[in-house]
Amino acid sequence: MRNIIVILFALISISKIASSLENDCPAILQSSGGTTEFGIRVGHAIHSLSVRNLKQFKPDVTEKNQVPTVNLNLTSDIPILSYAPDRTTPDSHMFLLDGSIILDEILSHMDDKSYNLKNYNPLEQIVHTFHMEEIWAAALIDYRNFEINPPSDDVCQCALDIENNGILMKLRQTALIIREPNLMLGYGQYRAKQQCLKNPSSPGCPFFKSIGNSLPPLDSAKAWKRWKMDSGAMNGKDTALFLYCALNTNINIEKYYQNFEWNKKYHY
Ligand SMILES: *[C@@H]1O[C@H](CO)[C@@H](O)[C@H](O)[C@H]1NC(C)=O
Repeated sequence: MRNIIVILFALISISKIASSLENDCPAILQSSGGTTEFGIRVGHAIHSLSVRNLKQFKPDVTEKNQVPTVNLNLTSDIPILSYAPDRTTPDSHMFLLDGSIILDEILSHMDDKSYNLKNYNPLEQIVHTFHMEEIWAAALIDYRNFEINPPSDDVCQCALDIENNGILMKLRQTALIIREPNLMLGYGQYRAKQQCLKNPSSPGCPFFKSIGNSLPPLDSAKAWKRWKMDSGAMNGKDTALFLYCALNTNINIEKYYQNFEWNKKYHY
């Protein structure tokens, strides 16, 4: 009986520690160089990572990693993968340049309209992918600093708590926009923004505000000028922090690899 009480107290205090850590996470992450937009930035940065990209951070990475991504297969029932997949083709060994391998990864799917970003033609997909590669290149610089000065276990616990730190939310939002751009952008977004100007507390306002604006078709130098504004590198520290923790923390990888609650089938 006494043992049970001791265990009970231990459990209560562990759950208290866990929940107080969760509440402190924004401050804990910021003390390690994270920003107030940690979840949004990391969710955006990691959504299309692959094993090839992660190998630049850590050479021994395989598909058994814990970097969640958006599934580029738009007809799959599973919109969010719990890992970054290997997207290289059997031909990637033919190429020396990363740029050639990127082209091979994209153009090998150019007949499949349900792959990668819906409504994007191959040129637009290439531009988007290079935009993401720019973001990873920026993160890699900060990642090397974390290798020299690793974040503490508390920091990593917060960085990897994707269900509470905003990363999973941003990934879900990104999956929604990639799969259903016609519902999420343009007319629907315009209407939502008008409504939010009138009544900022309407439901969904922060969500629609955070989506960003749609881009014109990339069919002219003028359109490229607009695309270019969204294509550069960004501050990489949030992403570097997350990736350092994800690639260097030994958690129960099998748990990560299973089918998550977030991928269950629901009916409306
Ligand atoms: C995408 O998923 C669907 C449904 O699971 C599958 O039939 C199809 O082969 C997948 N496409 C690719 C390119 O993996």
